[in-house]
Amino acid sequence: MSVQWFPGHMHATRKAILERVKELDVVVELLDARLPGSSANPLLAELTAGKPTLKVLNKQDLADPVRTEQWLAHYNARPGTRAIALDASETSPAKAIIAACRELAPLRGGMAKPLRVLIGGIPNVGKSTLVNTLKGKRATKTGDEAGVTKVEQRIVLADDFYLYDTPGMLWPKIVVPESGYHLAASGAVGRNAYDEELVALELLKVLQGPYAALLEARYKWGSAPEAIAAMKDEELLFAIGKKRGALLPGGKLNAQKAAETLLTDFRSGALGRITLETPEQFARWLAAGLEA
Ligand code: G4P
Repeated sequence: MSVQWFPGHMHATRKAILERVKELDVVVELLDARLPGSSANPLLAELTAGKPTLKVLNKQDLADPVRTEQWLAHYNARPGTRAIALDASETSPAKAIIAACRELAPLRGGMAKPLRVLIGGIPNVGKSTLVNTLKGKRATKTGDEAGVTKVEQRIVLADDFYLYDTPGMLWPKIVVPESGYHLAASGAVGRNAYDEELVALELLKVLQGPYAALLEARYKWGSAPEAIAAMKDEELLFAIGKKRGALLPGGKLNAQKAAETLLTDFRSGALGRITLETPEQFARWLAAGLEA
């Protein structure tokens, strides 16, 4: 099984980005810090190829700080790319974002040549939260500049700093199966697109090695990390179900309920700060996915 999704209103968004891209100075791509590789949108990268890019690893409060540093170093080593990590619900990420964009396009800015920045990201990555925080108020205002399509909003962050917001855009096919599971586990994919039990089992396989201690701290099995790392994913799901009253009469596992428990605990941060992939792992999966 692999996770796929419906491209939705991709066409209109794609067109809006293509119209805008020529005059763009910087692209801000919002990523989920728990799955930076998997939450990167290949379609956005394709449409904005060659533009200076700021990768914003959002939800850093939920991610493993050690792995966040690895991802930041990975992106910052790329020419034309800068990366920062933040929590979009913080009071003022605006300063860091504006400063990083100005650094990426030092010849722009000023009333004659305002800096034009496009912000993109997959659904649920925290774009509305960030845009609202940047604007400093909850209301969403639509830009009325000529040529700004209905699917795009212009937000004036400073007199010489324009941010163009596009709706969350999906891409037609997930080529890396691991990415499908990670996107589903994070909540980025609609519930109808995947089987929760399978996603929970895949999540347990990822967690049982590096994050065995967090599983133990949450579910209190009384097991050593090595024992957890050696268990089968089905056994781990059963152990969660047993601790959380997700058993059917006769002692059979209510797999759906146990899976929901795990996914909710992961998404909310109740399990602790977790990042599902490292830059090296993702590069390997991508190479294998493109070959397949
Ligand atoms: P989107 O526009 O990209 O689709 O995402 P949106 O801002 O709606 O955010 C999706 C969910 O992620 C929201 O939670 C939001 O509060 C949460 N979120 C956004 N940024 C951060 C962050 O940096 N850290 C954490 N921990 N959470 C973040 P929700 O449960 O869907 O809604 P609600 O709790 O805001 O009501």
